Amino acid sequence: MTDVDIEVRVNDVVWRNRVPPRLTLADYLRGVCGLTGTHLGCEHGVCGACTVLLDGAAVRACLIFAVQADGAQITTVEGIASPDGALSPVQAAFRDHHGLQCGFCTPGFIVSVTAFLQENPDPTDTEIREGLSGNLCRCTGYQGIVKAVRAAADSMKGSE
Ligand code: FES
Ligand code: FES
Repeated sequence: MTDVDIEVRVNDVVWRNRVPPRLTLADYLRGVCGLTGTHLGCEHGVCGACTVLLDGAAVRACLIFAVQADGAQITTVEGIASPDGALSPVQAAFRDHHGLQCGFCTPGFIVSVTAFLQENPDPTDTEIREGLSGNLCRCTGYQGIVKAVRAAADSMKGSE
């Protein structure tokens, strides 16, 4: 199959590349853009480690081809903090509430939770658990993660 020209904006940087049609967005971000914060766990849509924002919506980068992202705006975990390096409320809450141990799943959680709280800024604990259900963590037992999401929601409400 012939390679295809694409243009995507990743974390506010424009990338133009000729890519194989079967290159996944996850492999494009990691291998071409060098953004290795997007982790690959299962590579078939189960674990959520590869979650990125595509035009603001949380998607699994292992299930999308780079060519399908042509013309889109993508935010990876590297684009979640402020340009000066200040952690986002979600990142700070994961740090403060022990939302990670080995950290492999963390980029996917941070991106998913960021999108989740944009859609539902004042979730119940049940909604938080449902919102996290698409991301798997092998380390934490989830208590710290749930606490972190609650704290991030509260801090974002407080800063409005
Ligand atoms: S690597 Fe994409 S969902 Fe697991
Ligand atoms: S912190 Fe290790 S897999 Fe989640």
